[in-house]
Amino acid sequence: MAIATHRSSAPQSSRRTSAPSLAVVGVTGAVGQEFLAVLAQRRFPYSSIKMLASARSAGKEVTFQDRTYKVEELTEASFRGIDIALFSAGGSISKKFAPVAVEAGTIVVDNSSAFRQTPGIPLVVPEVNADALTTAGIKLGQGAIVANPNCSTIIALVPVTPLHRAAGVHRMVVSTYQAASGAGYAAMLELEQQARDVLAGKPAQCKLFKQQYAFNLFSHNSALGPNGYNEEEMKLVHETYKIWGYFAGTGSSVQVDPFSLPGAPRISATCVRVPVMRAHAESINLTFNKPLSEDEARQILAQAPGVSIIDDRANNTFPTPLDATGKDDVYVGRLRRDLSQDGNWGLNLFVCGDQLRKGAALNAVQIAELLLK
Ligand SMILES: NC(=O)c1ccc[n+]([C@@H]2O[C@H](COP(=O)([O-])OP(=O)(O)OC[C@H]3O[C@@H](n4cnc5c(N)ncnc54)[C@H](OP(=O)(O)O)[C@@H]3O)[C@@H](O)[C@H]2O)c1
Repeated sequence: MAIATHRSSAPQSSRRTSAPSLAVVGVTGAVGQEFLAVLAQRRFPYSSIKMLASARSAGKEVTFQDRTYKVEELTEASFRGIDIALFSAGGSISKKFAPVAVEAGTIVVDNSSAFRQTPGIPLVVPEVNADALTTAGIKLGQGAIVANPNCSTIIALVPVTPLHRAAGVHRMVVSTYQAASGAGYAAMLELEQQARDVLAGKPAQCKLFKQQYAFNLFSHNSALGPNGYNEEEMKLVHETYKIWGYFAGTGSSVQVDPFSLPGAPRISATCVRVPVMRAHAESINLTFNKPLSEDEARQILAQAPGVSIIDDRANNTFPTPLDATGKDDVYVGRLRRDLSQDGNWGLNLFVCGDQLRKGAALNAVQIAELLLK
């Protein structure tokens, strides 16, 4: 795998002696590489940056801004002197190494699901609940963990939260169309190879996924629970409750019963992998506690941070994953009254967001930016 270089357009680097020291854990992965791109583009200030991955990658070179760095093997000693560590190496690595980093005084911004439901660990989408960081008393210089939500949850909540604030979501039904890169580099390579093979008249080789991915789609590959929903679907439900402040986390795999959360919206999801390389799409149906017209919703979304509207009915032009690829905003379109309900009690929308970016690396870097304030 070629490791990308991330040189910012202007010549100077954002390295400053007074700035925090950084570590990127999982730097050779799909999210890790996006971390470097986002840090460079946003000129995130840093005094030093450590590139960490598995022993397999130790010694590989990564270029970031004006320097070339050697990737180091992640070990328990990796966090000495590190202020902020951006983690994206999977849940088991986070579970093992995030507590070690915290002990060393590092703030971990974690992209895995390891700590999202842990009470006391804030689960943050900066446009939605930046205040969760202050409430949890997270401060630079004191070790702590901040969890980055699941990519589908982030992409839904950036546009839905302002509507929820205006009219109260009573019920949310989400159907996702999720890209290969959501499952990392190996999934992207599998989709590409299968597409080549099928077009060449050869059988598709299934390694990561059980089913053919190219020219096909299938139910999300995460584990199915006893209720028939897969983990990705239940993350969307439970993470929304935590981010919107209906509960503080279970600290275990126990499922939260929405009927036990006063005023909590009813949420259900169907998550599907589609043969798109990058950026997730979601169809979202909302029922409100009080009427909200299509025009009011459009005005709210036009002002919403992190949202761009593509909703050109005359030309039948609406958001696509390619529109969202490499972009920071979540794109919203197909905004229309839910015809199955009387009056303005329901709304349909279709959203696309780059899950490597807003669904992972950008959201985590925005959290790190909040720590600098
Ligand atoms: N992809 C997304 O859109 C997305 C969105 C939100 C959250 N996430 C989460 O982010 C994490 C990474 O996802 P990804 O898509 O970037 O996966 P990926 O492309 O497969 O990358 C995995 C990274 O983890 C590193 N790693 C694996 N085992 C390690 C070990 N023992 N010690 C240190 N590093 C190790 C890999 O290093 P080597 O190259 O050395 O193996 C690689 O850098 C996962 O928890 C995922 O759920 C991903």
